[in-house]
Amino acid sequence: MKIVIINGPNLNLLGAREPNIYGNQTFDQYFEALKSDFPQLEFDYFQSNVEGELINIIQREGFSCDGILLNAAAYTHTSVGIGDAIKAVNTPVIEIHISNTFSRENFRHKSYISPVAKGIIVGFGLDSYRLGVESFLKS
Ligand code: DQA
Repeated sequence: MKIVIINGPNLNLLGAREPNIYGNQTFDQYFEALKSDFPQLEFDYFQSNVEGELINIIQREGFSCDGILLNAAAYTHTSVGIGDAIKAVNTPVIEIHISNTFSRENFRHKSYISPVAKGIIVGFGLDSYRLGVESFLKS
């Protein structure tokens, strides 16, 4: 089983960015631990700050891998294009957020991903990704 993790804008700064909200760990550190917890799975990881690149990655991976964990970050709340890309591919996509977007500003309550996602995991810190992996293992 191959799972692809796609992170959107500013998530390359995890560990340094607003640590009170997003924690002190870099994504690379977390990703290494995640991979060693699931040695039976194949993982790939992409991050981009560019909306069109995220769409390109969803299109490229979305017909071949078994599951996508997508944290579209700020584009979650604005991107019709990313929502359409998810609808266009075969692979199920789980929407991931590190913070509880519903306990934050109103503009973070709107998501163009949620209506087209298989499910949504919000607010468990970086372990939102781990919960996403587990849900693919059980489905
Ligand atoms: C985020 C929440 C978004 O509102 C925000 O723009 C992010 C990160 C999260 O993982 O909590 O960049 O997706």
